[in-house]
Amino acid sequence: MSVASVLQTMDYGPAPESPAAARAWLAGHKNSFGLYIGGAWKESDGGRFDSVNPATGEKLASLTDGSAADVDAAVKAARAAFKSWSKLSGHVRARYLYALARAVQKHARLFAVLETLDNGKPIRETRDIDIPLVIRHFYHHAGWAQLLDSEMQDHVPLGVVGQVIPWNFPLLMLAWKIAPALACGNTVVLKPAEDTSLTALLFAEICGEIGLPPGVVNIVTGAGETGRAIVEHPGIDKIAFTGSTEVGRMIRSATAGTGKKLTLELGGKSPFIVFEDADLDAAVEGAVDAIWFNQGQVCCAGSRLLMQESIADKLLAKLRARMETLRVGDPLDKSTDIGAIVSPRQRAQIDAKVKAGVASGAVLFQPKAACPEGCFYPPTLLSNVEPASAVVQEEIFGPVLVAMSFRTPAEAAQLANNTRYGLAASIWTENINVALDIAPKIKAGVVWINCTNQFDASAGFGGYRESGFGREGGREGLLEYLGRKTKPKRKPAAARAVKKTKTAGPLLTGIDRTAKLFIGGKQARPDGGYSRAILSPAGQVLAQVGEGNRKDIRNAVEAAFKAESWSATSGHARAQILYYCAENLAARGEEFAQRLTQMTGASPREAIREVEASLARLFSYAAWADKYDGLVHNPPLRGVVLAMNEAIGTIGILCPDEAPLLSFISLLAPAVAMGNRIVIVPSEVHPLAATDFYQVLETSDLPAGVINIVTGGRDSLAQTLAEHGNVEAVWHFGGTEGGARVERASAGDLKRVWISGPMDWFDPVEGEGRQFLRQATQVKNVWVPYGA
Ligand code: NAI
Repeated sequence: MSVASVLQTMDYGPAPESPAAARAWLAGHKNSFGLYIGGAWKESDGGRFDSVNPATGEKLASLTDGSAADVDAAVKAARAAFKSWSKLSGHVRARYLYALARAVQKHARLFAVLETLDNGKPIRETRDIDIPLVIRHFYHHAGWAQLLDSEMQDHVPLGVVGQVIPWNFPLLMLAWKIAPALACGNTVVLKPAEDTSLTALLFAEICGEIGLPPGVVNIVTGAGETGRAIVEHPGIDKIAFTGSTEVGRMIRSATAGTGKKLTLELGGKSPFIVFEDADLDAAVEGAVDAIWFNQGQVCCAGSRLLMQESIADKLLAKLRARMETLRVGDPLDKSTDIGAIVSPRQRAQIDAKVKAGVASGAVLFQPKAACPEGCFYPPTLLSNVEPASAVVQEEIFGPVLVAMSFRTPAEAAQLANNTRYGLAASIWTENINVALDIAPKIKAGVVWINCTNQFDASAGFGGYRESGFGREGGREGLLEYLGRKTKPKRKPAAARAVKKTKTAGPLLTGIDRTAKLFIGGKQARPDGGYSRAILSPAGQVLAQVGEGNRKDIRNAVEAAFKAESWSATSGHARAQILYYCAENLAARGEEFAQRLTQMTGASPREAIREVEASLARLFSYAAWADKYDGLVHNPPLRGVVLAMNEAIGTIGILCPDEAPLLSFISLLAPAVAMGNRIVIVPSEVHPLAATDFYQVLETSDLPAGVINIVTGGRDSLAQTLAEHGNVEAVWHFGGTEGGARVERASAGDLKRVWISGPMDWFDPVEGEGRQFLRQATQVKNVWVPYGA
């Protein structure tokens, strides 16, 4: 017998990891846990539920189902702790985070085994991926705590943060949530998923062990109702959620109008794109990591295999052969590749989706090797599927890959983007030009080139579209846990009281005093043919403006959509156009000043000051257009991560009434400078500076559709923008109630919403700068490993 044949026929012997230490820890707690509130274990009069090992069905522990009263107690403990925790120096907080990192590191094996017992994921993964990443996250954020005082001087902690996490990476999701929150000086109430709470409870114990002040971290176990109590608690300043898109949508609606900051990290159906020149063997190993890692229960799993037609058959053959060698079984065995599905309920869902796919024509492949009975599911490949079929569009959240082919790079990008999600993508090609050409074209928050499922604390993670908003990790993730330091408020320059209806004064005569709308580079009559009178402070009619309606907004959004090439224009070119706008505005400065005086009753001096400030603002964003660069991260791998600031797409902007020219320019300019196309609704009562601006735009070489201006009633236009499927973000500067309506209406497709109260638009710190640029962009992290 040759050595080669021995190697091929040799089977694995059992290599079980001992669960003894984890069992001893559970026994030390009599396999029963209360809630960790205010630094102590608390019993509750709520119910109890069991934590079960999905691989064996064995009950591991009895847990507390936290009630609304428990959540309230936890929020109070967190609020009390916030007073001193937020005032500690960054250095002192850094020492606590460092101590947490060290303590998790010290207990790494215990954490890994406990996670495997509770979740069913292979020990190889908990030991080599989950827990090391947790430790790295705490170290990295200990560093941020240290640097915060100097690096984020304009920022303050938010307060008490409510965090609700899923079961697929129980301790890792806890680390992603707790480390940045604490580094920034917040305190937290965290609810682990009901299926996997044990490592969070061990972590709570460790918080006590290292002497973390009581109340800084509170862990409340329970199911959806406990999560809901956290989301709805009025004492919470921010909600951070990871889980299903469905629950994310509910949380968006529930927090609308409450002023709570929100980040959502939701589902995905990420493409895994293999070009014909890819290293196919490497791509096959990549696919194993993309969809069979963690049983495919990964929000960013590469679950859609897109193959260039010329290599499709060859790649599928290699993939099937590799699937035959994947070992499904005991998660505690060190040579197991695929462990147990988290729960029978989740397994049943996966199975039902696969069966429905097969019933509608998909071809099923599963390896011949036996899959254990119980909560296990074999690696599965579905081919012969259509882009629109349910198995291609819906998240299956299990070890199921669907395969399709494409012909050209353009078709690959189009297929990749044919989804309501936008979390991640993986691109396989030996041609760096192709990879870097496709990466920006894919609407996803993370792109991995010739690799997949890479994570690091230094690189932000999060989605576009219905995959949610906000980022975790990186500088951008930190900012999600900080608010801006506000200056002692001067009274905002409120809109002057103006009667909205035509009540007094003669109508100005003339040929046609009705300002139209500005859509697709042209002045357009409003669809409904209606107009509204715009009055001076004395109640005289100054002019009529078009009364935009739903149809006008739809036309404007369509024009913006078509102007997509603006996003690909260079920052330099965008700057030139903003400078040109400034030049043309300057040429008509006096006219604009007079208009402001007529409209708002501002003194000529005040009006000139507003025009001058508007000019300066256009200059500022022309300056920023080619300077708001991304970052290059150096995570612990041979490679780099390019954190690119990308345009969001089409933004709907609702302007406030104060400083009607300056606020209009202050919102329009950063959005356009960053490559977005906009539909902007000027001040409802003082829109004439914006309608006069049409002529500035018409003479400034601005491509049609980049800026569209619709005048009319702010609330109804805001509603249409918030509900429109092709609007990616809405900025609302028109009062709390209107803002709440926009947040609620945006829950449908989970668009990004920026609500802001009155601002001092003249202040160059408050009225312009990075906070506007951040709202105008989203960060895409492109992972580029290297090695010859
Ligand atoms: P889920 O979204 O219901 O659970 C995630 C967390 O939210 C858990 O802690 C849960 O207790 C909590 N929760 C549930 N209802 C809530 C509510 N009304 N208010 C506040 N918190 C609430 O996800 P589930 O049911 O565990 O899984 C269902 C599907 O969701 C999966 O099949 C998968 O497709 C997707 N999913 C996606 C995840 C991701 O990371 N993107 C993670 C987990 C699930």
